[in-house]
Formats: sequence, structure tokens, C-alpha cells
Amino acid sequence: GAPVEVDISKLEPGQLMTVAWRGKPVWILNRTPDMLADVKKADSEVVDPKSENPFSMPMPKYALNEYRSREDHQNILVVVAVCTHLGCTPTPRFTPGPQANLPDNWPGGFLCPCHGSTYDLDGRVFKDKPAPQNLDVPRYMFTTPTTIVIG
Ligand code: FES
Repeated sequence: GAPVEVDISKLEPGQLMTVAWRGKPVWILNRTPDMLADVKKADSEVVDPKSENPFSMPMPKYALNEYRSREDHQNILVVVAVCTHLGCTPTPRFTPGPQANLPDNWPGGFLCPCHGSTYDLDGRVFKDKPAPQNLDVPRYMFTTPTTIVIG
């Protein structure tokens, strides 16, 4: 598939946008400092904090870190919005709120409606969930401070 160019100049902190890439939805999330702090808090709750397990899609080297993002744009998360269990589309849920069946320790992120896998704001899967691994990070680069090319 062709690379996709995305203008993120209007993506405010805390906002998420969805773009299509190779027939799949891809999320771009502009994380606030609070959201990044929530990622840090989730480090001990997720299966693979630094995304070191084998992935269906080779993980870009620059995403093999705690924030799964490029160091010069650490706040920007780019992940494929397809649950790694059986391929449903998780639901973004940035404030978890009181709800049955959610882990107490889940700070919010992405919730898969099919079998309840919870991912954090890094797309990292929580322990004891059916999804075997973190959400994929596609190849991406910044061509300007507010332009991302995916693929
Ligand atoms: Fe997401 Fe099963 S497809 S938990």
C-alpha cells in the first residue's frame, strides 16, 4: 500500500484521530503530560512494557521504548487500531470511569468490546487479557513538525 500523509496540525493535546492505512484503521493520539504519566504508571501492569515480544508487524526500532513513539515527538502515538486477539476494533476510553469488568488498575486507553482486552495509552495490553501482544506500530515519520507519513 501507498504511504499516507497526515496533517496533525489541528490535533490538540488529548485528541485522537483515525486514518486508513492499508485498509486498516490507524490511530494517532496526541498525548497530554498526564496521559504520558498514566503510561508510566501502567508499566508494571502490562505484559510487555517495552514491546520486546515478537510482533506480527516488525516494530520500528524507534518505537521500542516505554512510550512506543519517536523520541522527538514522544507525545504522538501511532498504532494500528486492530485488537491483537481476533481483530476487533477497540474503543478509545480515556477516562475509564466506574464500570463492571474493567480492571481496577486500568488507567484508561483502549478497550476491546469483543473479549475485554484492555490496552493503555501506549497500546500496550494488560496482563491476563486474551490479546497476546501490544497493538502494532506502523512505520511512520515526521516530514514537518505537524505532518506524519505512515508506511
Ligand atoms: Fe479483542 Fe478478542 S478480539 S479481545
